[in-house]
Amino acid sequence: MMAVTVGADAQKKTTAGIMPGAEGYTISKEIYGQFAEHLGSCIYGGLWVGKDSPIPNTQGYRNDVLQALRDIKVPVMRWPGGCFADEYHWMDGVGPQEQRPRMVNNNWGGTVEDNSFGTHEFLNLCELLGCEPYVSMNVGSGTVEETAKWVEYMTAKDGPMAKLRKQNGREEPWKVKYVGVGNESWGCGGSMRIEFYSDLYRRYSTYCRDYDGNKLFKIASGASDYDYNWTEVAMKQIGTRMKGLSLHYYTCYTWEGSKGSATNFSDEQYYWAVAKCGTGMKEVLDKHCDIMDRYDAKGRVKLLVDEWGTWWDEEPGSVPGHLYQQNAMRDAIVAAFSLNLFHQYTKRVSMTNIAQVANVLQSMVLTKGDKMVLTPTYYVFKMYTPNMEAVNIPLSIQTDTFTAENERDKDHPRQSPYVSISASRSKDGSVNVNLANADLKDSNEVTIDLGLAGGSIQDALVLTSADMKDHNTFENPFKVQPKPFSGAGIKNGKLVVKMPRLSVVTLTVR
Ligand code: AHR
Repeated sequence: MMAVTVGADAQKKTTAGIMPGAEGYTISKEIYGQFAEHLGSCIYGGLWVGKDSPIPNTQGYRNDVLQALRDIKVPVMRWPGGCFADEYHWMDGVGPQEQRPRMVNNNWGGTVEDNSFGTHEFLNLCELLGCEPYVSMNVGSGTVEETAKWVEYMTAKDGPMAKLRKQNGREEPWKVKYVGVGNESWGCGGSMRIEFYSDLYRRYSTYCRDYDGNKLFKIASGASDYDYNWTEVAMKQIGTRMKGLSLHYYTCYTWEGSKGSATNFSDEQYYWAVAKCGTGMKEVLDKHCDIMDRYDAKGRVKLLVDEWGTWWDEEPGSVPGHLYQQNAMRDAIVAAFSLNLFHQYTKRVSMTNIAQVANVLQSMVLTKGDKMVLTPTYYVFKMYTPNMEAVNIPLSIQTDTFTAENERDKDHPRQSPYVSISASRSKDGSVNVNLANADLKDSNEVTIDLGLAGGSIQDALVLTSADMKDHNTFENPFKVQPKPFSGAGIKNGKLVVKMPRLSVVTLTVR
């Protein structure tokens, strides 16, 4: 049984103001990172169709998706997995595409992978998008030598691996900053104990060298959700040998059985998801950050939430194991609550990567043949772009809450605010305000004291829809999309925003 206590049917009120004495940190643009795995149609069909495809493309990358990703200023992309990374042998994915060996994608439906999208295709995509590549190394089933050679292949100017790269058509090394040393090493990445993995991290990372001015930011495979022991031991045994430690946190009901439909769910399921991505994620971040603070008060080791998002049942009729799911207004609320939360943690959390960029889990875009739709989550990412590299303004917020319980997650009853807010100051002095009202019934009048001395409201947008299940389809691609918002004003120096029920609003005061 799930239980949700919701408020009365009247308009609610929320107040917020700058939190006295709290320091604001820069919101690294990489908080808005993406994740692209060889899983279902994320890469093949989603990003990549090949040069000979009738689908309009640039060097094999679909034009519609390229443009959509440019419009949200993707700052970093993680690849090739995920679970896939620990079965991936990069040498199979370089050289003439027609000669590349095939492999079975054991994690994801047993689909045969033809390796036509490999290192060159990924790193060239990052260059086209102007984003940082984040490459996950194979620690689970790969060798140290393979890892060492991959780094050399990608980043060295000279030497045997550089020679091979040049033979394969790329003269100059790429710039690769982020390398992941394994993925979910406690699970699909090798079923290891953290004590064992820590030593493997130390070993594999030793041979990930900095070539010719390329400086690697090495990331250790981290905990999932509530596995605080993993973080504790990693901090103790790896410490500052890692620049970053990852954390995976999904908004889903259970790892066994049904996770529930992406487009057909109850109010209770909806509220449970809001509480899990907001209050639930906050608790998890606080606890992992507390552990990291104990070992590294200076914040030298960053926490990277390099997989997050909603995980619902696969769409009926889709290929089992391909994790193709629809994306509704509920997902947009989850995205806004999550991003507002991440803004508060950027002292420690320097990157997050939503899972995944196309056609998998909480994706930005869905594609079918030559068609593409932008999801409600995509629009939240687009509306939030002004926050990249802006300085977070910590707020203290007084708002109504609800309590969500779920019998499949009974250890974690959560009290969640209906309204989530974050604010940031851009380099030019303008102030960005991001709000989400998760309430299915009530609008909410939000009054925020930001100490505004002047300025006017600009670029105000609202994302809302009649129903929490509303989503975009290939037949009706624009059902949920942002619209200009006129419900905000400045009164006695305070920002007053009349938040519709079930909505995300962003605006800038400049
Ligand atoms: O994003 C899908 C999968 O979720 C990833 O491959 C894995 O790392 C996680 O369990």
